[in-house]
Order: sequence, then C-alpha cells, then structure tokens
Amino acid sequence: MSMTPRPPIPSFIPESAPFTPEQRTWLNGLLAGLFGLQESVTPLSSAEAAKLLPGLIGDPAAPAPSDDSADDGAPWHDPAMPLPDRMKLAEGKPLPRRMMAAMAQQDCGQCGYNCNDYAGALFAKSEKRLNLCVPGGKETARMLKQLYQEFDGAPAPTIPAPATPPEAKAAAVSPPGRSRDNPTYAAFLSRRRLNKPGSEKETWHVDIDLSGTDLDYVVGDSFGIFPANDQDLVAAVLAAIEAPPDFPIAERTLREVLTDGVSLSPAPDMLFQLISYLTGGDRKQKARLLAAGEDPDGDAATLDVLAALHKFPGVRPDPEAFIEALDPLQPRLYSISSSPKTDPARISLTVDSVRYEIDKRTRLGVCSTFLGSRIASGDKVRVYIQKAPHFALPDDPSKPIIMIGPGTGIAPFRAFLNERQATRATGRNWLFFGHQRSNYDFFYEDELVAMRSAGLLTRLTLAWSRDSEKKIYVQHRMREVGRDLWSWLNDGAHVYVCGDALRMAKDVEAALVDIIAQHGGCAPAEAVKFLAELKAKGRYQADVY
Ligand SMILES: Cc1cc2nc3c(=O)[nH]c(=O)nc-3n(C[C@H](O)[C@H](O)[C@H](O)COP(=O)(O)OP(=O)(O)OC[C@H]3O[C@@H](n4cnc5c(N)ncnc54)[C@H](O)[C@@H]3O)c2cc1C
Ligand SMILES: NC(=O)c1ccc[n+]([C@@H]2O[C@H](COP(=O)([O-])OP(=O)(O)OC[C@H]3O[C@@H](n4cnc5c(N)ncnc54)[C@H](OP(=O)(O)O)[C@@H]3O)[C@@H](O)[C@H]2O)c1
Repeated sequence: MSMTPRPPIPSFIPESAPFTPEQRTWLNGLLAGLFGLQESVTPLSSAEAAKLLPGLIGDPAAPAPSDDSADDGAPWHDPAMPLPDRMKLAEGKPLPRRMMAAMAQQDCGQCGYNCNDYAGALFAKSEKRLNLCVPGGKETARMLKQLYQEFDGAPAPTIPAPATPPEAKAAAVSPPGRSRDNPTYAAFLSRRRLNKPGSEKETWHVDIDLSGTDLDYVVGDSFGIFPANDQDLVAAVLAAIEAPPDFPIAERTLREVLTDGVSLSPAPDMLFQLISYLTGGDRKQKARLLAAGEDPDGDAATLDVLAALHKFPGVRPDPEAFIEALDPLQPRLYSISSSPKTDPARISLTVDSVRYEIDKRTRLGVCSTFLGSRIASGDKVRVYIQKAPHFALPDDPSKPIIMIGPGTGIAPFRAFLNERQATRATGRNWLFFGHQRSNYDFFYEDELVAMRSAGLLTRLTLAWSRDSEKKIYVQHRMREVGRDLWSWLNDGAHVYVCGDALRMAKDVEAALVDIIAQHGGCAPAEAVKFLAELKAKGRYQADVY
C-alpha cells in the first residue's frame, strides 16, 4: 500500500502551552483541519486520542472522565434544556464538546457510554453509530449527523439496521451479558401488577431468572433488555408495504427482522428519503422535507414507521431497502429493584408500561409493553447488566441514607433496602415515595409497611399527587420536613434521587437547595455550592431517565 506524503502541519499551539509534543502535534493537525489549512486530520483510534487528550476525548475502554474534567464545565449538561439552547451554549467550542451538547444529557448509559464519552468516541471515530442516544431520538441523531460532516465534509456514515440474526453478530467485546454489544439470554419468570384496579397507571413488578447465566450485579446497577416489537404492528407494516413475511433478508425472514431487528417507532429520516425516491410531485417534495427534519403538514412528531407508510399509501419499497432505511431496535435499561443478597438468581424490575393514543391507534412503548404483556413465562430474552458505579450505597453501612423515588423511581431503593436488611447495615434509612393515588399506586405497600414496623425503614414519607385538588409531590413533603432533612445531612447522610429526569429531578434538587439555605442559614449561592460538594463527594447521586 502506498502512502501519500503529508504537507507540514502549521503551528497554532505555542511551545509554552501545557501539552506534550504528541498532544501539540495532534492539536495543531486538528486545528489545521478545522481551519481548512489541511485537507483532513488523520483520525486517531479512541485509545490514542484518549491517551493524548485525557478529559477531552473519551475511550469506551478507559475509565470515563467526568464532565468536570473539561474546563468549560459543560453548562449544557442539563437534561431539561432544549437542544437549540444546548447548542447555543456550546457554540464556538471544539467539535467533541458540541457533539456532547447534542446528546440528551441524561448520562443514562443506554448508548453504552455517558454523554461525554459517546461524543468522544464519535470524534475519535471509534464509534460510527449516530443514532444511539435513545432519549435524544431523531433530534440528537440529526444534529450529530450535521456535526459529523465537519470532520472533513464527508457525509455521515450510514449504519444499516442489522439483518443478520443477533447470535451471528455478537462480538466478543466483553463477557456475555456485561454490555449492550454482547448480551446473554435469561428466562422471563413472571410479572405482577403493582397498581390496584382503578389506577391510571400500568406498572409491573417483573422477575427474571439469572440461573442459566454467569451474571451477577450489585444494587444500583441497571438491567438492559432487548425487546421485540408487537406482532400486530409487524403485521400492519408488512401489509402496508405489501411484502411477504417470509421474504429472505440475509439469513432471516422479513417478519423476523421486523420483530427484533429494527425500530418501528419514530420514522427515521432515511425512510422518508427512501420514500422520496419512490414517489413524485407533491408527495416527493413532502417526503424530502420530512427527511430534512421539516414538518410540512404539522404531523411529523406523530409519524412512527406505520403512520409514515400510511401517509404515503401505495409506496412499495423493496423489503431489503426498507429494512436498511430503518433504525436498529435498541435495548432499554431498567433500574434493578432487587438485591442479589436476597436471591442471586432472580433479578427484579419495576416497569411502567407506556401506552398512548394518536389518531385512534394505541402506540406502545416497545420494551415496557413487551415486559408488561407480550413476553411469557419461560421465554428467553437478550439481556445485560449495566454497571452504575456512581449510584451505590455508602461503603460505610452505618451512614444514613435518604432516598427520593416517586413512581418507578422506587426501583433501586427497594434494592437498597433489601440489601441493607440482608447485610444488617446499621445506618438509618429514609424513603420519600410518591405517586398519583394512595389507594391504587402505593407500590410495594406491604413490604414497605413491614420494613417500617421492623425499624429498617426509619422514615417513610409519602406524597400523593391526585388524592386532592392540590398536587402534592415528593419535594413538597421534603420542604415540610426540611429541618429533619438538614439534620440527617449533618449526620453524614447520602442522598439518592431516582425517576423522571425532565421535571422531578430538577424540582427535587431545587427543593434541596432551598432546604440547605433555609436550615443551614446560608445564601442560595452557598447552598448550591454545598450541594455541589455533596455531589463531588458522592453523597448526592441520581439515577434519572
Ligand atoms: C438508567 C435507566 C433506568 C431506567 N429505569 C426504569 C425503571 O426502573 N422503570 C421504568 O419503567 N423505566 C425505566 N427507564 C426507562 C426505560 O428505559 C424506557 O425508556 C421506558 O420503559 C420506555 O421504553 P419503551 O421501549 O417502552 O418505550 P419507547 O418505545 O421508547 O417509547 C417511549 C417514547 O414514546 C413517546 N411517548 C411516551 N408517552 C407519550 C405520550 N403520552 N405521547 C406522545 N409520545 C409519547 C416518547 O417519545 C417516549 O420517549 C430507565 C431508563 C434508564 C436510562
Ligand atoms: N422514556 C419513556 O417513554 C418513559 C417511560 C416510562 C416513564 N417515563 C418517564 O419516567 C418518569 C417516571 O414515570 P413513572 O411511571 O415512574 O411515574 P411518573 O409519571 O413520574 O409519576 C410519579 C409521580 O411523580 C409525580 N410528578 C409529576 N411531576 C413531578 C415533579 N415535577 N416533581 C415531582 N413529582 C412529579 C406524578 O404526579 P402527576 O402525574 O399527578 O403530576 C406522580 O405522582 C415519568 O416522567 C415518565 O414520563 C418515560
């Protein structure tokens, strides 16, 4: 293979700057590339890049640098901030920082990284999949595609959805069941509804059998599940494209690939692009606009794959091209709600089934309804453990803990309590739980009441949002008992929050700041600093989604 000689790289980084010669050379090359003085920058492997620029570039194999390691403080790292505002804050920053700002900022781990490291891996080109951010969805994928083109003007890579059977492509990147890239199989055991009849919610306690696997876990970890699409939806999609279910796609049938290979939820830009090639006139123009992220008819947000096909009736794409235009079906994560100390072979989850209606069709959250209604006892499901080293019980079992987990946010706290019971930890435990109605939505009521009676659960504070005219949320209850919360904090308590990232977690944090300011007798800015210190010491941890 012949090598083209490269022109000398101009120097932008002064000799006095605090970089090694290797870092300086690479940064000069990068800046030359960005300023258009060199045709392109030689991509580094993620390991090389991470070694040269620790903190700026993540390596999936290396320990994750925290966001704090970057000196800009990542002010966009707020899951409640809309994407345009995040991008504005990151304007003018180096490409990896802008890529990070495009992520949904939940650090949820569903992509297999945190937000910073996913951006780093894309920048280092060790990761090419631009559509891994589940909470960011199409919006994030589109922005990443746009940013990706800044590398060298090349179009973003297109990663087709997997047509091969899952077994055939399981890369041995980690032991089975230890990452989303190499899941293992576990058997579904059972589900039990946690709400009583009359509830507006459908939340399930789910048990899965780990005995046929080598998996182990610690409380605080999450469980990754690869779901399967609803068979009625698959049949409707097959009918819409007028394709036979047994049409061969690689070594599988079209129906099989539609079942567990591709997402049938938001219609991806690529599908509209494909449709634009197959139509003409106004329809072509509309499909083109939709592919570019525009909303010609004001219905773009409602278009899942089936609705997109119905919007362009009569389009009959080649089944293989159709599959390639869809996104891969991603696994979903669930906080584990059991302790291995209780039963190492059985893992429990607490799953809220997502169902909503658009245009008279009930849309199903793919994984939550898979666990809540489609999977049957004994069925095997592809799973993995997602470690959560930053969401863990204190090392010292005598430390008090305060757990704030409305709705399914209770999941990891059931696990914490079972663990503290099994290990006879002496620390005090305080749980804030809340949900819609006390009569219907008091998850694990018997267990919690028994733990309260036994003294394990030192305090149980409840907030019911729909029992009265006035909404009562966990943070309202926290403010009512602010003095005691402050006293627990002074006793060294660790604070944990789990559940909704967009509203609840932010409001709970604001309530804590107010409590610290009021009962600690300090200014709000000091209270914010106090909370930041708790976070830095690992005494305030969040598992939010
Ligand atoms: C670390 C972590 C832990 C988690 N733990 C839990 C847990 O313990 N329990 C739990 O239940 N979930 C948990 N989740 C969330 C879980 O991973 C899934 O996101 C959730 O179950 C929904 O997935 P789904 O496949 O059922 O829905 P999807 O098919 O992904 O559909 C959900 C999407 O549907 C859309 N949608 C939802 N409702 C509406 C509506 N009313 N109108 C219009 N659009 C709507 C939204 O775009 C939403 O993103 C956790 C997530 C993370 C990251
Ligand atoms: N990605 C997904 O699609 C997906 C799937 C499942 C759950 N979720 C999200 O994850 C979260 C957890 O769902 P869940 O079923 O466990 O319960 P939930 O919908 O969060 O509700 C739990 C309790 O929290 C209350 N609440 C609402 N806003 C709040 C706020 N700002 N501060 C404090 N409490 C607040 C609710 O009250 P009211 O409802 O009465 O206001 C309810 O009493 C939800 O936000 C849900 O949207 C997302």
